[in-house]
Amino acid sequence: MLIDPTGREFSYLRLSITDVCNFKCVYCLPDGYQGGHDRGFLTIDEISNTLKAFAHHGIEKVRITGGEPTLRKDFIDVVRAAKDVAGIKKIAMTTNGFSLHKNIHDWVDAGLNAINVSIDSLDSRMFNTITGHDKFTSVMKGIDTALETGIDSVKINSVLMKQYNAKEFDTFLNWVKHRPVTIRFIELMQTNDNKAFFDANHVSGQVLKTQLLQTGWQQVARSASAGPAQEFAHPDYQGRIGLIMPYSNDFCSTCNRLRVTAKGNLHLCLFSEEGISLREYMNDSSNSELMALLSRYIKTKKPTHLLHQGNTGITTNLSMLGG
Ligand code: GTP
Ligand code: 5AD
Ligand code: SF4
Repeated sequence: MLIDPTGREFSYLRLSITDVCNFKCVYCLPDGYQGGHDRGFLTIDEISNTLKAFAHHGIEKVRITGGEPTLRKDFIDVVRAAKDVAGIKKIAMTTNGFSLHKNIHDWVDAGLNAINVSIDSLDSRMFNTITGHDKFTSVMKGIDTALETGIDSVKINSVLMKQYNAKEFDTFLNWVKHRPVTIRFIELMQTNDNKAFFDANHVSGQVLKTQLLQTGWQQVARSASAGPAQEFAHPDYQGRIGLIMPYSNDFCSTCNRLRVTAKGNLHLCLFSEEGISLREYMNDSSNSELMALLSRYIKTKKPTHLLHQGNTGITTNLSMLGG
């Protein structure tokens, strides 16, 4: 098991497989970022070896992220490779949903267990304004198709922003009344690229929490292995609400995840350190050096990020690290 100096155990790896994205979310990649065709991202063999090394250390869940991970033509092979690693019990992905409707059945057949889909507005025009793409209807169709597959978990991510979608909070709540889906409101995070945008648009998660508690939502006790989202349930609603509040004081105390970027850098936090390259160790099938490196490096993890002090570390946008 990988354990850091504060005693946190890491069972969850976020593996980015590309930093390219076809959307232009206003808070993330407002100018878009397509990149070239051959960008030197991790190969399937490198991914496979890396996952084996992490699984050796007790990683049980892998979340495939991007950019937009499904832009990789071999996305399904990544799922299969993860499925083949002994010890990996759950394979999840985070997507903007643009090709969900067409492909979700194949992905589930290949072994995908869970999806998180970003939907920042339930109004197609606002969705277009925020993402730069007229894909609302197709993404929503994808959600319904995903639910039909019987996949273990479908969660929606939404970033509320003062000048855009903050007034849709109640609309989102109504949307889960008759749907067994969790919507998580992710508090807008400042990155090196979005300071002015952050200042103009940040909505406090604590305010949303107060609103929920005042309207009959109750906080669900979280299991020891749960990630940073606080969950809320309501007897009249089939779905749940999650709040991801990185600006709350104890946010990092439940951190259970590590991150590997699309080019093989290991980061212990979404904000802060430079990370280290694992790539030169990924092609040795014995994996011994890679496993030893993980044991050593985890000892350097800091207790918390420094976002509260406006310190965003090296993070230009979340896409570069897989969110
Ligand atoms: P599950 O618990 O598996 O559903 O994972 P998740 O909620 O972390 O997955 P998802 O990719 O949907 O993450 C949602 C977003 O929450 C991320 O993209 C980040 O914006 C934020 N987030 C997740 N983990 C962290 C973290 O460790 N630190 C910070 N600051 N934000 C995080
Ligand atoms: N603040 C909060 N959430 C962000 N995401 C991307 N950038 C930011 C940011 N600056 C979210 C996306 C997606 C997830 C992967 O990360 O909305 O749901
Ligand atoms: Fe693409 Fe996700 Fe960033 Fe939006 S938030 S631009 S979908 S990587």
